[in-house]
Amino acid sequence: MTQAPEIEARDAETRARCPMTDLVLQGGDREPLVGYAELDALRESGPAHTLPGGDIIYTRYEEVLAVAQDSDVFYSKAPVDPVTGEESFVLVPQAIDGPTHVKWRRILASTFAPGAISALDDSIRARVNELIDGFIDQGECDFIKDFSLRFPTSIFLKHIIGLPVEELDKFIAWETDILHPKDVDPMVAYGKSVTAQTEVMKYFEQIIAERRQLPPEERANDLISKGLSWKIDGEFISDSDLLSFYLLVFEAGLDTVTAELGYGFHHLATHPSDRDRIVNDPAVVPTAVEELLRVYAIVNINRTAMQDTEVDGCPIKAGQRVVLSLPSTGRDEGQFPDARKVDFDRKNISHLAFGAGPHRCLGSHLARHELAIAYEEWHKRIPVYGLNPAKEFDESRSSMMGLNSLPLSWDPATTKPRS
Ligand code: HEM
Repeated sequence: MTQAPEIEARDAETRARCPMTDLVLQGGDREPLVGYAELDALRESGPAHTLPGGDIIYTRYEEVLAVAQDSDVFYSKAPVDPVTGEESFVLVPQAIDGPTHVKWRRILASTFAPGAISALDDSIRARVNELIDGFIDQGECDFIKDFSLRFPTSIFLKHIIGLPVEELDKFIAWETDILHPKDVDPMVAYGKSVTAQTEVMKYFEQIIAERRQLPPEERANDLISKGLSWKIDGEFISDSDLLSFYLLVFEAGLDTVTAELGYGFHHLATHPSDRDRIVNDPAVVPTAVEELLRVYAIVNINRTAMQDTEVDGCPIKAGQRVVLSLPSTGRDEGQFPDARKVDFDRKNISHLAFGAGPHRCLGSHLARHELAIAYEEWHKRIPVYGLNPAKEFDESRSSMMGLNSLPLSWDPATTKPRS
């Protein structure tokens, strides 16, 4: 069927005004979300691209911010699967929208507020030093395995959900299987992830039941005990919503800090002048945290358009899934001069590493404290270190950026005892 000439002209005009690279046509089924260099190339070649599978990816700061903030039109909740007709599993509160989401955020605000998080500083500092004690005399470590996986997980166990640190290895194994399942066969890897997820849920279910046995006045101040008395619209929150929330905090709060520290220490190990700046001027750490978050943001997020709309004047159909590449936005030259350079003297560092809009990261204060304390304490004790060239360095290849291993080494004679 031929189109009316005016419609054809309008379509041609839209295509010219809104160029969109189809990555399938361009490069087979290549996965573009695998590394900063690829994201940089993608961003520089245009503002929007169609991914294999049909999602549109936005890579520039301006468009990503606009979509993340437009929560009336772009929802977090994934649409019903068009083939199976199934609803996707809803992670609370990340995949709920509108007034119910606002109510959840209100309930959670005090636990993750700056004052509550500052109260954990001494404990976080002690944990960083305990972990460093474990390898400092060896002159080397796998930073991911020996430090950055163990650190946020132990804070989560002890201070967020109130479980003994002896559970650490079990939680690390679950975290690895859920978020980075390894197998040559993708279906087996997926199966591992689902199994681990089910085990975590069962575990939390059991802890909820145990805490419920205690009279309210004997319950501790952790997230699981508190959850038992949370109400929305006068009703206690269901166990299934609580479980979904604990699973989200488990997934969102552990791997992210691990990944961010991995890139941060990779940068410092390969840029000795930035590393020395932290050693000689620890007051720069808060700026260093923000600069490293800006250049090495790690989370790509998804939204669904709930109605026909436009992004930067370009049409988007209702039901269209979009990916917002936060890792790309901090490196956008249109927003930050000399964007890929880490500059501890930079003044405007309004990055999107924690997202934007109503779903902006709930744990950002905790994450910032964990990152800052890790940078401070490490550099007091191990001021000179580099990448260990004899060991394998390995970057994770999934939509959440991260390193699987980061071998670091140093001369034990240059290290310092705990202060
Ligand atoms: C460097 C570390 C972290 C980064 C880069 C990060 C990043 C993000 C981002 C980008 C979002 C927005 C998701 C979206 O809009 O769809 C988010 C949401 C969230 N984050 Fe974080 N996060 C970090 C650490 C943490 C920690 C430590 C916790 C808690 C222990 C946490 C808990 C959450 C929760 C519960 C949400 C969902 C909020 C909502 O939907 O209302 N995050 N995070």
